[in-house]
Amino acid sequence: MYKETLIKATNAGADELKKYFNGKFTISHKEGINDLVTQADFASDKAIRSIIKSDFPDHGIVSEESDEKISTSEYKWIIDPIDGTVNFANAIPICCVSIGLEYKEEMLMGAVYNPIMNEFYFAEKGKGATLNGEKISVSDKTEVMTSCLVTGFPYTYLDQPNGPLEVFSKLIRKGVPVRRLGSAAIDLCWVAAGRFDGFYEHYLHPWDSAAGFIIVEEAGGKVTNLKGEKYSPYKPGIIATNGKIHEELVRWVSQTE
Ligand code: IPD
Ligand code: CA
Ligand code: CA
Repeated sequence: MYKETLIKATNAGADELKKYFNGKFTISHKEGINDLVTQADFASDKAIRSIIKSDFPDHGIVSEESDEKISTSEYKWIIDPIDGTVNFANAIPICCVSIGLEYKEEMLMGAVYNPIMNEFYFAEKGKGATLNGEKISVSDKTEVMTSCLVTGFPYTYLDQPNGPLEVFSKLIRKGVPVRRLGSAAIDLCWVAAGRFDGFYEHYLHPWDSAAGFIIVEEAGGKVTNLKGEKYSPYKPGIIATNGKIHEELVRWVSQTE
């Protein structure tokens, strides 16, 4: 029954995303000039929350675009109403709705839906991961040098020692292809689908990675923090891979050379 609510809520958010995509909407700025939030983000957030609240009024909600960020309930719905807002605002079709359901600090299930590309990713603990209902699995590359990677950049803290720019430069200088799509949730799903062999990012929020985390794990991949330790959506750093290049990518990302 949680699955039904998750899918209903994800579809409701995606309907709003689709309705506004490539159309007219108001844009406001958060902390930085390019850190955006649009009318569609708020509409998606509202549609998603009203479904979850009506099905499970006692459950907690942690959503990027609402004030409900702290919750004491054992169940938490972790929501990014639009992941990839800058893409969305420029009519770049790499944006999605991302919702994860956590119980007692363990992810139970997650959904990531990009309605523009018609890709619905879903995973439930112990039951595998799917794209539009078809089972997906991670790639089988075994070395970083022959891998195709993806990453993302925050608006600040770019120049920390061994930070986002330094790690990116290290990989690019060695000729490793590293893409930047602009949606962490989609980055994770594309690792799950075997399109990318690995993803890393230094500073994410819970709503960016909660759903994508379980989708990668259920597709046979591995997710940790930047040091290779246990992943938590509440900590900023993440490495997600096919499992086979994991330890090597952890060394690339965490070691200063
Ligand atoms: C952003 C995207 C991006 C990542 C940023 C996130 P938003 O989320 O996931 O890929 O690099 O760190 O903030 O703002 O589009 O929801
Ligand atoms: Ca996000
Ligand atoms: Ca967002």
